[in-house]
Amino acid sequence: MPLTLTEWDQRFQQQATWTEDLRAYLYPQIELGKAQRVLDIGCGTGVLVPELCAQSEGQVYGGDWDLARLKLAIRNSPAGIFFGADAHALPFPTATFDLALCHFLLLWVDDPVDAVREMCRVTTPGGSILALAEPDYGGRLDYPPQLAKLKEIQTNALRDAGADPHLGRELRSIFTRAGCRQVTTGVLGAQWRQPPSPRDHALEWKVIAEDAGETLSAQELHDLKELDKLAWERGERVLYTPTFYAWGKV
Ligand SMILES: C[S@@+](CC[C@H](N)C(=O)[O-])C[C@H]1O[C@@H](n2cnc3c(N)ncnc32)[C@H](O)[C@@H]1O
Repeated sequence: MPLTLTEWDQRFQQQATWTEDLRAYLYPQIELGKAQRVLDIGCGTGVLVPELCAQSEGQVYGGDWDLARLKLAIRNSPAGIFFGADAHALPFPTATFDLALCHFLLLWVDDPVDAVREMCRVTTPGGSILALAEPDYGGRLDYPPQLAKLKEIQTNALRDAGADPHLGRELRSIFTRAGCRQVTTGVLGAQWRQPPSPRDHALEWKVIAEDAGETLSAQELHDLKELDKLAWERGERVLYTPTFYAWGKV
């Protein structure tokens, strides 16, 4: 069964925890605290908007072309201003924002260079452009080895859904080609400690089931899920998808 809007929101909240440390590191450097107008494009259900509002002095705008997600964003973040738009053609004059960012967006757009160029256009000269999280499933690593097939399942599912599963490695080039200056790129680290909560584990496997579609039988899916759970409980599980970030100046 496809994920409901609420489950997507939970998934986005979960993904946002993966970039928490990076955001805490980058926000002071881009002087979020001084920004008067901040853009979060491809904001989905707006999971980053409350913290952007809390940490900046000004107004935070969240844009997405999925209106159902935006409706939820409005409910979740009353302090944000939300608008429906395509990331390639933003409905703002040149140099409107002090800072424009995105989080798990560029792998989904038709032309990521064009989308970053558009972020630059609406940002004031000297302002910052941030892509906080762009994964690269080509580098996905699973342990124990029986779980390695998850890489292929998720890579194919992303491709079928219209995303570029290998976008991460291109991010530096995308920012440079879009005309950003002083481009810094990096990859998020990872740490494995206690098993995910039962809720997070269930959600992860709901996504995998959706991604696998007909390629796995119910029994195969069940067996892999049990193997994954056991590996977490035994302190053996490793799951790593390189996730790139980029920061540039207009
Ligand atoms: C993986 S979600 C990430 C949502 C949010 N940034 C987050 O991290 O929770 C990607 C979002 O980008 C939006 N999106 C994809 N292509 C877009 C485009 N061309 N213009 C505007 N939004 C787009 C999708 O509708 C979706 O909500």
